[in-house]
Amino acid sequence: MTAVHRWNRVGADGPRVDGELKVRGEAPYAYEQDAGERAYLAPIRSTIARGTVTTMDVDTVRTMDGVLLVLTPWNAPALADTSDAEFAVLQDIEVHFHGELIGAVVAETPEIAADAAARVTVEYDIRTQDSAFFADHPAAYEPDDLNGVTPVDESVGDVDAALAAAVHRVDEWYSTPEEHNNPMEPHATVARWEPDSGTLTMYDSTQVASSVSYEVARVLGMDTGDVRVVSPFVGGGFGSKGSPHAHNVLAAMAARELPGRAVTFALTRRQMFEIVGYRSPTVSHVQLGTDADGRLTALAHDSFSQTARVKEFAENASTVSRSVYATESRRTTHRMVPLDVPIPFWMRAPGESPGMFAVETALDELAHSAGIDPVELRIRNDAPVDPASGNPWSSRRLVECLRRGAEVFGWEGRDPRPALRRDGRWLVGTGMASAYYPHLINPGTRVSIRALPEGRYAVSTAAADIGQGAWTALTAIAADALGVDPDRISLHIGDSALPRAAVAGGSSGTATWGTTIVAAAEEFRAKYGDDPDIDDAVTTRTPELPQLERTTPASFGAHFVEVRVDADTGEVRVPRMRSVYSVGRVINPRTVRSQFLGGMIMGISMALQEHSVRDARFGHIVTADLAQYHFPVNADIEDIDAQWLDESDDVASPMGSRGAGEIGIVGSAAAVGNAVWHATGARLRSLPIQCDALL
Ligand code: MOS
Repeated sequence: MTAVHRWNRVGADGPRVDGELKVRGEAPYAYEQDAGERAYLAPIRSTIARGTVTTMDVDTVRTMDGVLLVLTPWNAPALADTSDAEFAVLQDIEVHFHGELIGAVVAETPEIAADAAARVTVEYDIRTQDSAFFADHPAAYEPDDLNGVTPVDESVGDVDAALAAAVHRVDEWYSTPEEHNNPMEPHATVARWEPDSGTLTMYDSTQVASSVSYEVARVLGMDTGDVRVVSPFVGGGFGSKGSPHAHNVLAAMAARELPGRAVTFALTRRQMFEIVGYRSPTVSHVQLGTDADGRLTALAHDSFSQTARVKEFAENASTVSRSVYATESRRTTHRMVPLDVPIPFWMRAPGESPGMFAVETALDELAHSAGIDPVELRIRNDAPVDPASGNPWSSRRLVECLRRGAEVFGWEGRDPRPALRRDGRWLVGTGMASAYYPHLINPGTRVSIRALPEGRYAVSTAAADIGQGAWTALTAIAADALGVDPDRISLHIGDSALPRAAVAGGSSGTATWGTTIVAAAEEFRAKYGDDPDIDDAVTTRTPELPQLERTTPASFGAHFVEVRVDADTGEVRVPRMRSVYSVGRVINPRTVRSQFLGGMIMGISMALQEHSVRDARFGHIVTADLAQYHFPVNADIEDIDAQWLDESDDVASPMGSRGAGEIGIVGSAAAVGNAVWHATGARLRSLPIQCDALL
């Protein structure tokens, strides 16, 4: 790539491009789009976890005033492609998990639809007695194949011998619970079958309009171009909107039966707990061995997670342990057990987040038993090359993050002994942990640039802004790459009719779309110069970045946390948190800082609050609303701040940026837990840490 651009807007602070629309209420979410004459869909969902639907009595609701359509497994249209079980909605009478979609009522109002759906009597042949919602014993778990993409198990050197010979050792089990994504905007989809053209328009809350279009078209037997998915503004997703789910198919199916009506399926919070994915519970067995100086000679991370019997999703907590620290010998494995539970899916830093909780807690235990400061222990084990591949890092500045974090937090002089500091009724402690997240660029994204009148440019790609700031970041990147002011950029994103774009996920969105915008701008300027004719245009796909084959780019960070634990009640507060990150060039300080703080808060949440309780008898989630599924409110988050190193990583992307979306949640829960140990002396290896465990 020849750089013809100068970074000017990229890296400069500035308000969100869509900020004014947001505060005026003029940035519509899917449900709020002007989609024409509405009809409202209420799902009928299974109240058993395993068995078959034997009858559904829909005769009375079919004739209710205002009911437009009732769908059941007996009258639902056949789908063209049922190979993905998640999308094979109403195609048979099997029930695979509690809350599965087994029917729908579409009516003139949401109230009529919900009332009618509730009146449908469903009978089942129940096989709950054969079902399993938990598997505690490791022997129940089997190797997963991670869909054949990544080798699940790997080992380097003789771990067992190194552990046996180690001077200092840790051998412990760590667990993280089932957790559910709860973005501000619940999932919603509005599907309209266009009677004249026989095409489908969907206003959807998604991280990836192009995939929703592709998958819905495939399942319905349509051309991708005939399913248009519109999604310009999205109120968060954290991964749960990184793929279509069953509700998209059900809405599309209903829309085809009601041409011209905008069939609106807005999931309730309760429905989200079973339909749009969640973080599977994980268990990690971590064994560490070091020499007398605390240098790792062995690191073994054996992880276990659950998946759904109906469709596999692997939350592999052990892969992260291949990359973060240097060690002479290493083993990482993952085992899974299929259960009668809803289908797990992405939740911010899937794998890395639970995995780093385990490893960073184990390192804290090691630091204590070896008598080495936890920051110093991590510095001693810094990896000069990527331990997973042996390739050089594009830039690894973890040590600088650790040192700077220690400085801004005031770590120096910390007494390492636990349970010594008391301020009135509060036990006080501090803890820290490292952060790591791989840098990814997704191939297959396309960007088009077209010259408009008055020196303006239309820059188009189906990217998604889920709150991370794509409108802002991509406008800045396009402006600099075309060498013009941002007000000359007319950015078009959030619509599958635009050139297709990869997901806003895996912390890869901005780097992927931005890299492609830069390539398109370079092609455009090479072809038409800086004074093009109106309608001069190019469409460009993500360039190959061969340097990424030989070099590992990754983001790093360090978290420092102070906690106070009420000596009488066990209540844990987090009065202070500081994190320092290395993510390459920060495209926009305001939006990236917000990503960091959001991740850190999600880490505090993971440490102290979030967990879903599954009923052991019937397999439903008991805590399926925001009254019972807790995460921090404003009053729970006190003095918190993020900093970053001033840098540019020219290997990672032409902007010099790496991924920044997920790293905030990686390691942060461990930092909180390590501080709780320092405050109380209680080493809690099972999240969340709640007051009952501290009394
Ligand atoms: Mo995020 S879990 O990569 O959407």
